[in-house]
Amino acid sequence: MLQISPSVLSADFTKLGEECTDLLKAGVDMLHFDIMDGHFTPNITFGMPVLKSISEKIPAVYDIHLMLDQPEKYAKRFIQAGADYVTFHVENTCDTKALIDEIHENNAKAGLSLNPKTDVTKLEPYLKDLELVLVMTVEPGFSGQSFMYNGVSKIEWLEAQRKENGYNYIIMIDGGINLETATLCKGKGADAVVTGAYMFTAPDYKVIVDGLKQI
Ligand code: DX5
Ligand code: ZN
Repeated sequence: MLQISPSVLSADFTKLGEECTDLLKAGVDMLHFDIMDGHFTPNITFGMPVLKSISEKIPAVYDIHLMLDQPEKYAKRFIQAGADYVTFHVENTCDTKALIDEIHENNAKAGLSLNPKTDVTKLEPYLKDLELVLVMTVEPGFSGQSFMYNGVSKIEWLEAQRKENGYNYIIMIDGGINLETATLCKGKGADAVVTGAYMFTAPDYKVIVDGLKQI
């Protein structure tokens, strides 16, 4: 069954806690927090204090997607604020292996993501150490964009690498997910999807969750 990680970037921020509780009641597997700094991405979202206030009150698996410069400066602070998964981008200029190790040393799971224009083989040296690979199927920055189909061959490659080498990462897809694109991704080997606009424009989250779980 597909795991579902809704991006709270599309939530109603006047009642973010309630939104998270409603999503969990509807059966989502984790909560996806998109962290943007206005440098790595052309948008600014929220940071550690928001995650901390939610994670302290609401037990859940917190899936944190760092789309910012210098993720090595912030990863540990997001873990202290409640992150279970910390995913950063292979396009960042930090020492990728060192940051994966630091995330593990701080008892969180490490994820690596890549932008639509980035070659998936750039991930190869790190695959054995990862718990999650996040394939971006939109340019990072905003929810509500259309799914980019060049991500499909990346899923196939990641699935083949995993089978061949016995790697343990989950393959998660982020951007433009709906019932149709989720079906395509699952068929190629995806284990999890992020949902922004598709989830939050629905009047009933449970209908969306049930539909995705039935794929
Ligand atoms: C894009 C973010 C996504 C996005 C998903 O920069 O990483 O998580 O908000 O939203 P939808 O599902 O609307 O594309
Ligand atoms: Zn994301």
